[in-house]
Formats: sequence, C-alpha cells, structure tokens
Amino acid sequence: MKKRVYSGVRATGRLHLGNYYGAIKGMLALQDDYDCVFSVVDLHAITTPYSPKLLQRNIREVVLDFLAAGLDPEKCALEIQSQLPHTDLAYLLSTIYPVSRLEDLPTYKEKKAQYPKYVNMGLLYYPVLMAADILLYKADLVPVGIDQEPHLEVAREIARKFNSMFGETFPEPKRFKTNGEYIPSLLGKGKMSKTVEGSYISLVDDFNEISSHLAKAPTDTGVEGGEIPLEGGVANLFTLLKLFSSEVTIVAFTKEYQEGKIKYVELKKVLAEDIYKELKPLQERRREFENQPDLVDTILANGREKCEKMAFSTLSEVKDKMGISVL
Ligand code: TRP
Repeated sequence: MKKRVYSGVRATGRLHLGNYYGAIKGMLALQDDYDCVFSVVDLHAITTPYSPKLLQRNIREVVLDFLAAGLDPEKCALEIQSQLPHTDLAYLLSTIYPVSRLEDLPTYKEKKAQYPKYVNMGLLYYPVLMAADILLYKADLVPVGIDQEPHLEVAREIARKFNSMFGETFPEPKRFKTNGEYIPSLLGKGKMSKTVEGSYISLVDDFNEISSHLAKAPTDTGVEGGEIPLEGGVANLFTLLKLFSSEVTIVAFTKEYQEGKIKYVELKKVLAEDIYKELKPLQERRREFENQPDLVDTILANGREKCEKMAFSTLSEVKDKMGISVL
C-alpha cells in the first residue's frame, strides 16, 4: 500500500508565500508518489477572531489557490475539514491526552498573547484536532512549515499512546520538510503571517502589489557594508532573494552589500520581478478555475467521497477498539 500524506491549510483567505513554501510546495512534491489528502481546515480557522459571513468565501479561496498551485485532483483528494468526522475522532483522542501538555505549547502561548480576549477552548484543543486530522487518514507524512513541529509532536504522542492503550492502529506521522519552509515577514520580525498586515505577499498579488509590499520592508542605510546580517529586514530580503532569484543576482547584490554600495530600490525591483515571474502561471491557472465553478464543485464532491471511505473506516476502528458501539 502507498504511504499516506495529509496536510491542511487554515481557511483564513487567500494564501501567501509563507503557505506556498511551507506547505504547498511539499504537497506538490508528494502528490505523484503518495496517497494524498489535502484539506482546507475551516474548524481550525474559527479558533481566532473571524467573520462568519466570510468563512465560506475564504474556504473557496484556499481551494482555488490549491488548484492554482498545481494540486492535481486526479492524484490527491481535496477535503473541507468540517465535512468529515474530524471532531468525532478529536474528541475520542482528547480523552487520552493531558491538558497540561497543551497549555505548555508555544503556539498556544503565542495565540494567547496575540488575542488575550479570545482565549477559548478551541484554541487549547487545536493540536488535538490537528492530530485527529492526520490520524483520521493514518498519514505517515505531513508537509507543513517548521512552526508546526510542536503540533506534530503532539500527534505522534497521541498515536503512540493510543497504540499502547488500545493496540497498534496509527503510524507516527513525520513532517515533510521543504526548502524555504520558513518565510520571514516583510516587516523584519517573525514569519510571514496572514494575521499580520503588511507581513506577506499573497499568491494573487500582481507586480505592482508585490512592489508596494516590498517597498515598505525595512532596510538599513546600505552604507555599513560587511557581512549580511542574520536577522532583520535586510536578512529577510536576502532570504527571499535566495528563494526567487538567480545565483548571479544573489552574488551581485551580496557583493554590493559587502562593499557598502547596495541600492535597496534596485534589489526590491529585481526581487518583485522574480517573485511575480514565479506567481504569474499560478494566477493564470487560478483564473481558469474561477471561471469554472461547476468543475471546482465536482472536484470537491469527488474528494469528499474518497475521504469519507477512509475517514469512516478509521473512526469505526477507533470506536470499536475503545469499546464504543460503532452502530
Ligand atoms: N496548524 C496548521 C497551520 O497553521 C494547519 C493544520 C491543521 C494542519 N490541521 C493540519 C496542517 C493537519 C497539517 C496537518 O499551518
């Protein structure tokens, strides 16, 4: 049997370069050789402040971005998390996992600090639901960004604990790493994030939008010279350059930096061109799918059907092993 792959993207609207490199590139790399399920995780999206009116539209945006990026519905099943029994499995798994471990997770602490008035049970439960997402499909490999490693550790702990209490059932899921899995924020601190305005470039941004985002990215005076810093605005621009631009370009700007001659306007212009060059084919493909809503609906219906078979089979097995009536 082929190994299973699962990954999910929160339904918070259109994807940005951080999602693209952290998760989507990995999904694309795996879809040819593995049995893949890729999900729009809407239930995770509602753990932080959101608009109920926009949720369905945001789910659709992620689906379109998946297809635009080149996920092939013939090779992988696309699912919308809330349509499958993830919460059923999550509840069952939550009964074997300690609250104290969840309270200690860095991701939970960060969200608590970010939304002090929105510290809800769902936020604490987030990693259990994520473990259920993965274990529902018995996935071995999970293409996600490095910031998700603590959550994957929870998934592995839950898998191990379940297997030891109720018999061998789940594989221990491993993260699939991609090149460029940590895309820094354009603001010079932290990662590119949908919830931090000005920090990201969206996959649908045109050349002018990309240029104006980059224009706001902080730099230094450009006259210090010496080695390129390891963190901050300039470091981040060079990280992006390494992902999108040619070796010749990188070497040239590095040399200019070292000689204290760098012109950031130039660097940002070249970078904007190179990012746009990569995104343009995606944007064209996106338009094709946007113009065929029925096709997208059919893709989702087929994905749902494929996922239901796998998901309900795992759920029945788990209930049975836990002594809960399956009927
Ligand atoms: N927590 C992930 C993120 O923020 C999204 C996610 C939810 C996920 N469930 C998942 C990723 C299962 C991989 C597998 O990026």
